[in-house]
Amino acid sequence: MEVIILKNAEKVAATGAKLVGELLRVRPAAVLGLATGSTQLALYQQLVERYRNNKISFRQVSSFNLDEYLGIAADNPQSYRAFMDREFFDQIDIDKQNTHLPYCEEGQNPILVGPAYEQKIIEAGGIDLQLVGIGANGHIGFNEPSSSLGSRTRVKTLTRQTFKDNSRLFSKTEFQPKLAITMGIATIMDARKILLLATGENKAGAVSKMVEGPVSAMCPASVLQMHQHVTVLLDETAASGLKNREYYDWTYLQNESLKKRFRVFHDD
Ligand code: F6R
Repeated sequence: MEVIILKNAEKVAATGAKLVGELLRVRPAAVLGLATGSTQLALYQQLVERYRNNKISFRQVSSFNLDEYLGIAADNPQSYRAFMDREFFDQIDIDKQNTHLPYCEEGQNPILVGPAYEQKIIEAGGIDLQLVGIGANGHIGFNEPSSSLGSRTRVKTLTRQTFKDNSRLFSKTEFQPKLAITMGIATIMDARKILLLATGENKAGAVSKMVEGPVSAMCPASVLQMHQHVTVLLDETAASGLKNREYYDWTYLQNESLKKRFRVFHDD
């Protein structure tokens, strides 16, 4: 796991965008795994800016989002489909036919959505780079604490904490879903590379458990310790609970000089 601690949230988003850009330069038809949420929003803004400045193109890219709420229509502004269209897809040159979310149509059996989504990912050749955020309780996607580390895309019930954390985005009169369809932990682990972004003090506890705690289903993000190519981008506040900080900073300097010499994408 490569842990990179940056000055602030803006630098986290800019560095994330740079890494996505590096991948698309070598693999313009990459399959991206995407996430929603406030942390990713800053990254999408950076990517949109790069697209507007002709530094990056998504024309050949296809994408699979981590999750989607169950029980709200795709055209509901609160759906993750609407979030992705509004904040990212409608502002870049991606072909929207190639953008996927684990959406359950009205009347469709939600239990069937997961296996079909897994199949689509396989048919696309697997995910090259999966973007991930982390919940204050250590969730990735909507894999809440106690989720099986071997889980696949399926229906999950949000914890009360996640429901409460997300309530800031819903008005009092709006329906807020308690269920979602999420990629499983094993689905996320199948991605060839994983890029996790975390900013803000409320993530410090989850980040320290993920990086320095035991691998446990009670902190789903800790499973990333078992993945060969994970980069974690943190701002100072999200990194504030880490004990081994000095080593991560030292390693980052060594990796940067290696990259300059040998032009490797990144080292894990
Ligand atoms: C969203 C998702 C979630 C978020 C996490 C952090 O698609 O999968 O796991 O990444 O809840 O959300 P923010 O960035 O809003 O704190």
